[in-house]
Amino acid sequence: MQQKLIAFIGGGNMAQAIVLGLLKQGYPAAQIIINDPNEEKRAYFAKLGVQTAENNVESVTRAEVVLLAVKPQMMADVCAPLSAVDFSDKLLISIAAGISTARLQALIPSAKSIVRVMPNTPALVGEGMSGLFAPENTAETDRTFAQALLNAVGKTLWVTEENQMHTVTAASGSSPAYFFLMLEAMQQSLIEMNIDTHTARQLVQQSMLGAAKMVVENPHITLATLRENVTSKGGTTAAALDVFNKRQFNQTVEEAMQACVARSQEMEALF
Ligand SMILES: NC(=O)c1ccc[n+]([C@@H]2O[C@H](COP(=O)([O-])OP(=O)(O)OC[C@H]3O[C@@H](n4cnc5c(N)ncnc54)[C@H](OP(=O)(O)O)[C@@H]3O)[C@@H](O)[C@H]2O)c1
Repeated sequence: MQQKLIAFIGGGNMAQAIVLGLLKQGYPAAQIIINDPNEEKRAYFAKLGVQTAENNVESVTRAEVVLLAVKPQMMADVCAPLSAVDFSDKLLISIAAGISTARLQALIPSAKSIVRVMPNTPALVGEGMSGLFAPENTAETDRTFAQALLNAVGKTLWVTEENQMHTVTAASGSSPAYFFLMLEAMQQSLIEMNIDTHTARQLVQQSMLGAAKMVVENPHITLATLRENVTSKGGTTAAALDVFNKRQFNQTVEEAMQACVARSQEMEALF
C-alpha cells in the first residue's frame, strides 16, 4: 500500500479499528494524524506512536488523505471550518452513515476525489466488511488507495449506485449488533438453564465461530444446505427451528434490516 499522510477527523471506535488495522499491516504510525477533542483518546493513539492533534484545519492542510470519522450529526459542524482548506489534491474519505457524496461535496466544495465507505466494527479484529462508493470524477489512484486502506482491516466491495450504501449499512455496518443480540439471547437462555455465565459464553461463542467458519470455508454450499445438514427430521435442531419459524424469524430479520435501511435514508435527509 502506498504511504500517504492520513488525517483522521474523529478518533472514536471506527477510527481506532482502522488505525489498529493499518499499524498491524506495517503502515507507518508517523503517517497517521488523529484529531479528536478528547484528551484520553488522543493519549491512547499517542501511545501507538500515531501523531495526535486538536486543530482539524492544521492537520487537514498537511494531510494528503482526510478520513472523516465523526458522527453523521456532527458532520456539517466539523466540515464548516475545513471548507476553507484547498482539497483539490487531497483524497476525502467519509465513513459516516447516511452522508451522501453530494452532501460531502457541498460541505467541502474544493474536493475532487471523494470516497464514501460503510465499514463495520469487526475491522477491530481484521475481519471488517466495508462497502465503498465513489462518484465518477474520483481518480482511479484514489479509489485504489481507499480500498487498500480498508483492506487493511478486512474485506471490501464497491457498489455502483450510491443508494445501495443504505443496503450495505443494513448488511455490514449494523449487522454485527444483530449477531451479538442473537448470542446474548442464547447466553441468557443457557444461564436460565443453570449454566454459569462463563461456560454459557464459551458454548455460544465457539459454536458460532465454528458455524461462521463452515460458511466461509464452503462457499459452494448454500446456507440452506448447511442448515439442513444439521437438522435431522424429528430431531433436536428441528424442534428449535420449528419455534423460530412459528415466531417468523425470517420476517423479523427482514423487517429489522428494512428499518435499518429506512433510518439510513432518513439520516441522509437530516444531515
Ligand atoms: N461504530 C460502528 O459500528 C460504525 C459502523 C459503520 C460506520 N460508522 C460511522 O463511523 C463514524 C464514527 O463512528 P464511531 O462509532 O467511531 O463514533 P465515535 O466513537 O463517537 O467517534 C467519533 C469521535 O469523533 C470525535 N469528535 C467529535 N467532534 C469532533 C471534532 N470537531 N473533531 C474531531 N473529532 C471530533 C468524538 O469525540 P467526543 O466523543 O468527545 O464527541 C469521538 O471521539 C460515524 O459517522 C458512523 O456513522 C460507525
